[in-house]
Amino acid sequence: LPIGRLVIGHNGLLSTPAVSCIIRKIKAIGGIILTASHNPGGPGGDFGIKFNVANGGPSPDTVLERIAQVTRTLEEFAICPDLRIDLSRLGRQDFDLENKFKPFRVEIVDSVEVYLQLLRNIFDFGAIKSLLTGPDQLKIHIDAMNGVMGPYVRRILCDELGAPANSAVNCVPLEDFGGQPPEPNLTYATALVEAMKGGEFGFGAAFDADGDRYMILGESGLFVHPSDSLAIMAANLSTIPYFKQMGVRGFARSMPTSAAIDRYLLSTTRYKNYVLSEVLSCML
Ligand SMILES: *[C@@H]1O[C@H](CO)[C@@H](O)[C@H](O)[C@H]1NC(C)=O
Ligand SMILES: *[C@@H]1O[C@H](CO)[C@@H](O)[C@H](O)[C@H]1NC(C)=O
Repeated sequence: LPIGRLVIGHNGLLSTPAVSCIIRKIKAIGGIILTASHNPGGPGGDFGIKFNVANGGPSPDTVLERIAQVTRTLEEFAICPDLRIDLSRLGRQDFDLENKFKPFRVEIVDSVEVYLQLLRNIFDFGAIKSLLTGPDQLKIHIDAMNGVMGPYVRRILCDELGAPANSAVNCVPLEDFGGQPPEPNLTYATALVEAMKGGEFGFGAAFDADGDRYMILGESGLFVHPSDSLAIMAANLSTIPYFKQMGVRGFARSMPTSAAIDRYLLSTTRYKNYVLSEVLSCML
């Protein structure tokens, strides 16, 4: 399958969730993510390549195995050392590679815009904005850990939702993440933990390098486990317009996710039968 069109984020930056969103929006066959996420690779073991499929999600093992198989039978490949793509210039750039991929088209897109539109359709921006700017303003502290999330935090939380500019720190993506691992946990996101312990902020969050993991801290540094966030959202779905309108067909969790969601679902009659029937169908 010849690929003749590449869509790349401005300055080469896209969070993993934004890649997923763009793949679905433009109906791409998939997306390649060069990421410092915890897939060991590269000289320092902090570089990896992810491939997401047409539904926006990570490729299933079958696809990865097939890719690995094909790499073993490749007979030739060509490189284009003179191809210069200006990642800082938004818009279309066409290249004539003098082969069957004619023209070879590269589009540099705003890294945040499409993802922001998606979030607007899910969450109640008006309610969040009044929470962050109203008289009883919730003071927040967000640490983007110099990963890819900086532009998203600035544009979405500060520009769109009205959080003061000084609510967000480490928002410039750096190649070395400013020297500290962009690991949003209690070991590495210590600056956030310290800031929250000061008692000034009611909500804190940090993100990993590619924006698909986060840590949430409550007042005085209370650690909210990501598995608990899922259960909290499940318990408060009516406050999220998208789910209020569309309903929910299921909650997914994987091997490392705790059973917090199960405890919530089993405690409400609304979902009880659903959970049980899922358990049964898993057993069958
Ligand atoms: C934080 O992440 C690092 C690297 O993945 C890990 O070694 C460490 O145990 C984690 N700390 C906590 C508290 O989860
Ligand atoms: C969220 O869910 C919890 C647990 O059921 C409940 O105590 C709380 O009132 C809910 N909050 C809102 C805003 O609905």
